[in-house]
Amino acid sequence: MTNDRWQQLEELYNAAWKDRTVLDKADPELRREVESLLAQEKGAGFLESPALEVAAQQVAAEPGQDLILRRIGIYQILSLLGSGGMGEVYRAKDTKLKREVALKVLPDAFANDPERMARFQREAEVLAALNHPNIAQIYGVEDRALVMELVPGKTLKGPLPIDTALNYAKQIADALEAAHDKGITHRDLKPSNIMVTPEGVVKVLDFGLAAQSREHEEGETRITSPTRSGMIIGTAAYMSPEQARGETVDKRADIWAFGAVLYEMLTGKQAFRGETASDPLASVLKSEREGSPIPQSTQCRRQGCPVQAKPNRTDDSVDVRDVK
Ligand SMILES: Nc1ncnc2c1ncn2[C@@H]1O[C@H](COP(=O)(O)OP(=O)(O)O)[C@@H](O)[C@H]1O
Ligand SMILES: [Mg+2]
Repeated sequence: MTNDRWQQLEELYNAAWKDRTVLDKADPELRREVESLLAQEKGAGFLESPALEVAAQQVAAEPGQDLILRRIGIYQILSLLGSGGMGEVYRAKDTKLKREVALKVLPDAFANDPERMARFQREAEVLAALNHPNIAQIYGVEDRALVMELVPGKTLKGPLPIDTALNYAKQIADALEAAHDKGITHRDLKPSNIMVTPEGVVKVLDFGLAAQSREHEEGETRITSPTRSGMIIGTAAYMSPEQARGETVDKRADIWAFGAVLYEMLTGKQAFRGETASDPLASVLKSEREGSPIPQSTQCRRQGCPVQAKPNRTDDSVDVRDVK
């Protein structure tokens, strides 16, 4: 179960505590879960609720275990690879082609959520429009699962030796350039959406928040941004100032995030961080007011370090080829 789903369950449980009629309007799956929790106990509110606590511990101990060894179409689920805001990603076996794939599964609870379903469909279409060695390839869609190339290896982590960081940075830049050439903005570039294979090949993942600009939309492959203006989307620590303000974003937002990822590859620390979720946003906006497109510290300051990596956001491309 994802954190989002867990939060929905928690909210519905609390609301149902006071007024059972809220269950009439709820998603049937969530309703069933809440009803079974309510049936297990009477008395305490959410915080003291043993039934919900036990369920929470089970969820924490075994995230996504419920699907393992089940099948989705011709795919046999083998193990959980990771999870994020959209659902869980599993390693699975394509029983027809006899190869392993990655399945990104949208939880049942989101089936009735038009925004999630639209994001899911858009991610599939965006990936299908892209064909690049540094972007995880989509093979198809099965029920509520994206069938993808299984990327071996780990998500990106810093600090890395400078040469390695620049090698990865170039591959990320190539992936972004391929997307930008198609008018696609990723909008959620961050280390957990980037994997590196044991051979050192970078794969950019998770185009679930991507948008395609109007001039690139055509016919059946039309992909539109799902978000209303004024809605903040993305991940605070990697958000450009315009994204943090909820304005319309274009590929320059990815270039900003690229700068933040590069910083993290070199230093092992997030460029914009803080105790609370809003702290990184405040520091992003502060850095903009102070006139620096990315924080000064993004330049590597280690003694003898030859790197001055500054993706130039006024330029149209992410160019790390000029890094000296
Ligand atoms: N194609 C893949 N191959 C291997 N692991 C993957 C693949 N896609 C995603 N993952 C793993 O699953 C995690 C969540 O996937 P992601 O697409 O970012 O989902 P979300 O939209 O929920 O954030 C990633 O951080 C990564 O660890
Ligand atoms: Mg992700």
